Amino acid sequence: MHRLYSALQLKKLLIQKALGETYTQPLPTLQEKSTALPTSLDKLKELCNNCYLCELSKSRKKVVFGKGNPKSDILFIGEAPGATEDSVGEPFVGRAGELLTKMIENVLNRPRSSVYLSNIVKCRPPNNRAPTPKEALTCRPYIFQEIEIIKPKLIVALGATAFNYLTNDTTPISKARGHFFTHNDIKVIPTFHPSYLLRNPSAKKEAYSDMLKVKNFLAQQ
Ligand code: URA
Repeated sequence: MHRLYSALQLKKLLIQKALGETYTQPLPTLQEKSTALPTSLDKLKELCNNCYLCELSKSRKKVVFGKGNPKSDILFIGEAPGATEDSVGEPFVGRAGELLTKMIENVLNRPRSSVYLSNIVKCRPPNNRAPTPKEALTCRPYIFQEIEIIKPKLIVALGATAFNYLTNDTTPISKARGHFFTHNDIKVIPTFHPSYLLRNPSAKKEAYSDMLKVKNFLAQQ
């Protein structure tokens, strides 16, 4: 591909020279032609907003890009937007988001605005079904690049989907939760998804203990 592009570039230059041109605008390089990865959240968001690579782009109302403090030491990653997020265009603004906010404020003792929140998949799967592997794998490069830009000290993977796609580890969430894993040298701690906690309030004590581990980890940085 690079070779073909260079040959075409050279051919174009030779034609221009043959036509008597002495000056041309620099030709766009292959990188400028969109293969470069966005290195700012704004550029990455724009790319997501214009993404039609999977079926979810047909049914979404809004693309739900991450939101929060771009310099945060902690990044919370969920599964995919729900109905409220799809309408508003922001992550974790429904009931699960309310619970997550309480966990951040009451256990970590910090405002929600001090952290960054995102999802593995940026568009809502219809009827709140789990994203298919094809959808998750198509979308995953976006969260990987979001992580690269934010460079958090710790990622909290909310639920099995976030944990599995971030770490490629298939340990069930009930076993993996509260333990430290890694994604590209960044520590990942899985815990239960707040939607699961809403359906299973008895699991909140485990989630509380996971959040205490998060708090201790951050205090040591
Ligand atoms: N559940 C998620 O996983 N993410 C959201 O943004 C909202 C609910």
